[in-house]
Amino acid sequence: MENLADKLHQEFFRIVSDVGFETNTKVFVIGGYVRDLILERVSKDIDFVVLGSGIAFARKVAAKMGSGVQAKYFKNFGTAMVRKDEWILEFVGARKESYRRDSRKPLVEDGTLDDDQKRRDFTINALSISLQKKDYGRLLDPFNGLDDMNDRVIRTPLDPDLTFSDDPLRMMRAIRFSTQLDFEIEKNTYRAIGRNKNRIKIVSNERVLDELNLIILSDKPSKGFLLLEDTGLLKIIFPQFGELKGVEVINGNAHKDNFYHTLDVLDNLARKTNNLWLRWSALLHDIAKPVTKRYDPKVGWTFHGHEFIGAKMVPRIFKFLKLPMNERMRYVQKMVQLHLRPIVLSEDHVTDSAIRRLLFDAGDDIDDLMMLCEADITSKNDARVKRYMKNFELVRKKLNEVEEKDRIRNWQPPVSGEVIMETFDLKPSKKIGDLKSVIREAILDGKIANNYEEAYKYLLQLAEKEGLKVKKLVKNPEKE
Ligand code: CTP
Repeated sequence: MENLADKLHQEFFRIVSDVGFETNTKVFVIGGYVRDLILERVSKDIDFVVLGSGIAFARKVAAKMGSGVQAKYFKNFGTAMVRKDEWILEFVGARKESYRRDSRKPLVEDGTLDDDQKRRDFTINALSISLQKKDYGRLLDPFNGLDDMNDRVIRTPLDPDLTFSDDPLRMMRAIRFSTQLDFEIEKNTYRAIGRNKNRIKIVSNERVLDELNLIILSDKPSKGFLLLEDTGLLKIIFPQFGELKGVEVINGNAHKDNFYHTLDVLDNLARKTNNLWLRWSALLHDIAKPVTKRYDPKVGWTFHGHEFIGAKMVPRIFKFLKLPMNERMRYVQKMVQLHLRPIVLSEDHVTDSAIRRLLFDAGDDIDDLMMLCEADITSKNDARVKRYMKNFELVRKKLNEVEEKDRIRNWQPPVSGEVIMETFDLKPSKKIGDLKSVIREAILDGKIANNYEEAYKYLLQLAEKEGLKVKKLVKNPEKE
């Protein structure tokens, strides 16, 4: 694969090449885009390295590309960004210093292409393509990145201790690329991660989290977590998760290793959904098992209440990892808290009222919850798995039937607080809330149907028992 010219389809590659020719400036495509081009992965971010000023060069490119092109310049970093449709082109002068996209430090010294290539993270990310007229499309591969790509290997171009000390985030990136691409990390590079792991502490949590999320979003996230654990990085960046590892044995009774179990659940789920937050729910569903673990000589190991304690732990973990403290966190909390409910249902006799309660608690997230629960079945016993799956199918069927009939998913009280106040001439007070929740419970238990008429009749009966005087009968306001 010496020449890649016929893979550079977009018109702007020619424009960039022309600008290089006209200004007598050498320019190359470099980094992740070249890697992805060879691996046939889709990428819309292109880095160009220029032997000269990236900003001046980008100005000319933007001008030649014509209308609809936006350009942004970052003087302090000596970089420029040009946007065309969904494409992002970034121009930067070659650097002698280490390449650090997020570095706050201004660039120190201009360098050659060779300087630039060797200060990059991995051989597979250090490939470049010449855009000079005389050898347009030629692949420049001083560190045998192409061989490493063929052999599916992640390796630093220089001594890994140097490459990692230039930017310790690269240790996470090594594991992230290994997981995303299903490559192996070369032995020396891998050992250096173990040696340098503590340096990850100087990297901002946000950058670490970006890499962690990319690992979680991979096809088989367990691969990354096993590497994080084995190198010692996991204990530093996400210690709560590391706590799940290990098996205790009392009187010959062992519990399952919840670290590996959780990774199985995550991999199972990854086969079904790209929803990052559902994947986070899988990661955290058993997070409270270590703190709730007890040994009971009669029944063996128990983890009572781990779903509730786990849900309580979620905000602290989100805060620690710099995950968003908003409705996404509340979604994960809800999933963790409810993750046992469908299992319990499928084991028990499935009553309509239990189904209604689950629909009420899960709301629109019921399908996600079912997906999580199915992924949670990691037994190696085929017969058991089959039995669970059959029961889940039954639960799903029941969920559909009950929802069809009772519309509980996005439940709104059929009788509002205003109606109650008007009926008994009451002021806003706790009493109103109490009445509303008695009505809700009656609906969930199936004593009355989920509609205004039945709920209002029930309200009047309740009131009579409690000695509340009816001031005025109120018709269903929705029907007015
Ligand atoms: N790079 C580096 N060290 C880093 C980050 C980036 O050497 N810590 C270099 C690599 O050559 C990389 C390029 O900068 O290929 C672009 O970085 P980035 O856009 O972050 O990553 P990509 O390799 O493009 O991969 P992805 O888009 O999957 O993040």
